[in-house]
Amino acid sequence: MKVDVLLGLQWGDEGKGKVVDVLTPKYDVITRFQGGPNAGHTLEFNHFKHVLHNIPSGVFHDQKINIIGNGVVLDPISFKKEIDSLKDKGFDLSKKLFISKKAHLIMPTHRILDAASEASKGTTKIGSTLKGIGPTYMDKTGRNGIRVGDLLNNFDQKYKALKEKHLQLLAMYDFKFNIDEFEQGLYEGIEAIKQFTLIDSEIEINKHIQAGKSVLAEGAQGTMLDIDFGSYPFVTSSNTVCAGACIGMGVAPNKIGEVFGIFKAYCTRVGSGPFPTELLDQTGENMRQAGHEFGSTTGRPRRCGWLDLVALKYSIMINGVTQLIMTKADVLSDFETIKICMAYDIDGVITEEFPYDLTMGNLTPIYTELPGWNCDLTGLKDEDEFPEELNNYIDFIEDQLNIPITIISVGPDREQTILREGNN
Ligand code: GDP
Ligand code: IMO
Ligand code: MG
Repeated sequence: MKVDVLLGLQWGDEGKGKVVDVLTPKYDVITRFQGGPNAGHTLEFNHFKHVLHNIPSGVFHDQKINIIGNGVVLDPISFKKEIDSLKDKGFDLSKKLFISKKAHLIMPTHRILDAASEASKGTTKIGSTLKGIGPTYMDKTGRNGIRVGDLLNNFDQKYKALKEKHLQLLAMYDFKFNIDEFEQGLYEGIEAIKQFTLIDSEIEINKHIQAGKSVLAEGAQGTMLDIDFGSYPFVTSSNTVCAGACIGMGVAPNKIGEVFGIFKAYCTRVGSGPFPTELLDQTGENMRQAGHEFGSTTGRPRRCGWLDLVALKYSIMINGVTQLIMTKADVLSDFETIKICMAYDIDGVITEEFPYDLTMGNLTPIYTELPGWNCDLTGLKDEDEFPEELNNYIDFIEDQLNIPITIISVGPDREQTILREGNN
């Protein structure tokens, strides 16, 4: 068996959590392979809504194994809050969730360093979620990090040494903090992690593959936030792309099967950084309201804009996408016409190639315009019911991208998902 990967092609929040939940019945194992509580993955079913941060989106189905892989950075405090909130809602994950011993831990001082670093940047700040992601990955690559497996071996001593180092670093910033506030709940969080089975996840996942079990890897963030290929430096600190799934799970590249690339029918971005098709006018505001575009993790308003095919083609190339999933088509129902960015005009030179740096030169998106469908899609159950204009929109994108769109999402609920026959 192979591992299928589902990942975001834009700037995150494409609807990954919802679609992973929809696809979970087809799989035995669901894994997260990078990122951490900067992610906010929203699931809705049976009038129940939940936002997951550290935990894979397969936990609401029975008999499924969910694994937090080695590439993830895990925050004990935020993890315990998640587990408790799920327990309160009647979901016990003790037999469903397994955690890699090689996943790195986000310590309270990582969160303080994140805040201090952002505060020092002033107007050039990244707009981080301040969950300690960057400093934790820095300690991982700097070979100073603390891993989940360390909770079983001398953790106190390791934390004390790392904290000392962090406090010295923090002294370089003009940043006031109360460490007790940040450390509150740390030891309860650690105990919560230790209640779960801590595993050598790369070995377990490969055993599952060998045994013929199907695995779905759930990406966090999106390709435009990838540390190597995103709009650097306004990115996250992990490889969000398909190759990151190999590293973040210990799965060889030749074990990757389908690559599901998910995108919204338009674009959003939360935090700072360039966004070529951003709409700063009433149209953007209408999109934000219609799409309830406010961050699942921070509540910040998301910036909105038209679909960007230059960026999307680049993401598809980097990830080797085999199937596309389009979400939030329903949000565009009130628009008379819908624009799609086909190319960029950079200082008078027209290009369809994604540039090294979106902020170099004067960039103007070149749009084509398609008629809107002007009708409510949220109750549709089958693609036969699609209005002609939506079919045209889908056909146009497929033609441009040369990859089939196999799933269309028309609302936040599990049920509001249409599989396109003939494409599956
Ligand atoms: P993720 O981070 O990729 O999992 O996405 P988020 O959960 O952060 O953001 C997606 C938001 O859109 C959530 O509020 C979802 O409930 C919602 N959503 C997902 N798919 C659709 C859709 O097709 N239509 C609408 N209207 N909302 C959707
Ligand atoms: P999901 O998985 C959208 C953005 C932040 C910021 C930048 C760096 O829900 O799609 P970080 O906290 O990683 O240091 O922030 O990346 N960002 C996201 N934007 N969705 C996410 O995750 C994000 N995770 C981080 O807003 O601009
Ligand atoms: Mg999200």
